[in-house]
Amino acid sequence: MTAVRLREARIGYGDVAVVEGVDLTVADGEAVAVLGSNGSGKTTLARGLLGLATVLGGEVEVLGAPVGRLRRPPPAQRGRIGYVPQRHTVSGAVPATVREVVGVGRLARLGPFGRLRPADRSAVQDAVAAVGLADRLGDPVASLSGGQQRRVLVARALAAEPELLVMDEPTAGVDAASQDALAAVLADVSATGTTLLVVTHETAALAGVLTRAVVVDHGRIAYDGPLAGAGSTDDGHHHPEGTGLPPARGYRQDQPRVTTDGGR
Ligand SMILES: Nc1ncnc2c1ncn2[C@@H]1O[C@H](COP(=O)(O)OP(=O)(O)O)[C@@H](O)[C@H]1O
Ligand SMILES: [Mg+2]
Repeated sequence: MTAVRLREARIGYGDVAVVEGVDLTVADGEAVAVLGSNGSGKTTLARGLLGLATVLGGEVEVLGAPVGRLRRPPPAQRGRIGYVPQRHTVSGAVPATVREVVGVGRLARLGPFGRLRPADRSAVQDAVAAVGLADRLGDPVASLSGGQQRRVLVARALAAEPELLVMDEPTAGVDAASQDALAAVLADVSATGTTLLVVTHETAALAGVLTRAVVVDHGRIAYDGPLAGAGSTDDGHHHPEGTGLPPARGYRQDQPRVTTDGGR
């Protein structure tokens, strides 16, 4: 099967295309890095796959189902696609524990009246352990650092055991040790056959996992081939928004500069 298939895709917001002319086919089980400078359209491309940005033209198919101008992936797709949005941590106002937030990822699998069964609870525990937070299961998410909260969101996506995992800069604002831990997790997930599409600047940390790279430049695909040939965008420092500043700790949804992910 084909995990992702775009033909002459135009994706944007309102009537304005941000990416266009995108031809991209990702086979089941592939592990693809999406690279490119800030503002090039990586997030829009990722969100288009989830029906969170508008497909303005061409074809977008995810796990065999079309995503169109008016349609999000159908309910049957929920739980089959995992998504870690860019720059989101869990709102500090939500008095939820790590276990509860990650459990939500599992709920997507169960359908409207589903309840977590023992197998689901252990999937939640496994996902939390995989991101190195096993000792924080019962802690309020608000008590964790920004980087740890990012890892909770990764665990939430993992808990659903998705067939396709789309992650938008999962390592941004996460320390080097956590980046290596995430790389190990993704290697495991990839080995089970899950398709990975990871928007990242830190290709060095994930080079062992991601084999193919797609470089987005001004809304078009400028390169599609082996990661090694993509030219490194990893200069050892992550520059959010191209400010040249080190990453801020603890990105929050209500950060005023966030414009691309407000619709989630
Ligand atoms: N919600 C939105 N509405 C309108 N334009 C947007 C929105 N989100 C992003 N854009 C525009 O799309 C372009 C690409 O943004 P984005 O996809 O976030 O790029 P990247 O993830 O590569 O940094 C930018 O010029 C940005 O201003
Ligand atoms: Mg982005």
